[in-house]
Amino acid sequence: MKLGFVGTGTLSSAIVTGLKSLPDETTPVVVSPRNEEIASELAARYPDVRIAADNQAVLDQCDTVMLAVRPQIAREVLKALRFRPDHHVVSLIATISREEIAGLVAPAAHVGKALPMPMIARLQGATIICPPDPIVAPLFGRLGDVIEVEDQGEFDALSVVTATYASYFKYLDTIHTWVRSRGVADDKSRAYIASIYKALANAPDTAPGQDFMRLSQDYATRGGINEQVLRELTEHGTFETFAEILGRVHQRITRE
Ligand SMILES: NC(=O)c1ccc[n+]([C@@H]2O[C@H](COP(=O)([O-])OP(=O)(O)OC[C@H]3O[C@@H](n4cnc5c(N)ncnc54)[C@H](OP(=O)(O)O)[C@@H]3O)[C@@H](O)[C@H]2O)c1
Repeated sequence: MKLGFVGTGTLSSAIVTGLKSLPDETTPVVVSPRNEEIASELAARYPDVRIAADNQAVLDQCDTVMLAVRPQIAREVLKALRFRPDHHVVSLIATISREEIAGLVAPAAHVGKALPMPMIARLQGATIICPPDPIVAPLFGRLGDVIEVEDQGEFDALSVVTATYASYFKYLDTIHTWVRSRGVADDKSRAYIASIYKALANAPDTAPGQDFMRLSQDYATRGGINEQVLRELTEHGTFETFAEILGRVHQRITRE
């Protein structure tokens, strides 16, 4: 595989960093010259990474191409490029459908979508791939977990998960702020919350057959303080509101 990136920003940098952190990894990588600073940094750090003269040169030197420009400029950038029928194209662009990308990169025969996350740089997290892809799934599989789905509907629904990170940290911050307001030192509060939530994040792995609600029930001892928080948040409509917001994010993802 000769792997190319059109758009060398946060996500491309994370993928290349994860890939090149693997032992004995020698896949040749060609990145587009923008962003100049990120491209230069990657090329300086890894001997197998080269900077192409322009976006077209990325395509000309590679068989597998990841599209990683922002959606706002993607159509303009892709229209200016000449793809080959044998190009294996993977779009990382979150909000443009596979059908539209296929039209823009014709005559490339294979066009798929993938949704990695920046934590792939540390070989963590999962990448969603649509449709199943025997070339790219093993590549992402070396960098973390891979979830392959058949249709765009499943891909879009899973993509909504990625909209919830900021709120997750706000949830932790709410706990942290309250604990500190009771006079606990910042570092102790942070260390305790981080350690406990890291352990909770392992629960689905340690109890693989249990769904999330079952895990919730396991912790909600009858009459206990976990049950109280869960009940009061539920009575306030917190989770209902949250589910409604997920619906609106989904509408946005599928409309843009
Ligand atoms: N970051 C994430 O967490 C994440 C997650 C899922 C999906 N995505 C998707 O991945 C794509 C890339 O996201 P990102 O976070 O990596 O964005 P980003 O950091 O803004 O990277 C995009 C890069 O494209 C470069 N660029 C601008 N014009 C270009 C052109 N004409 N030709 C080639 N490159 C050009 C930009 O360079 P300059 O800096 O010089 O303008 C920038 O470095 C987006 O479509 C996004 O929807 C991102």
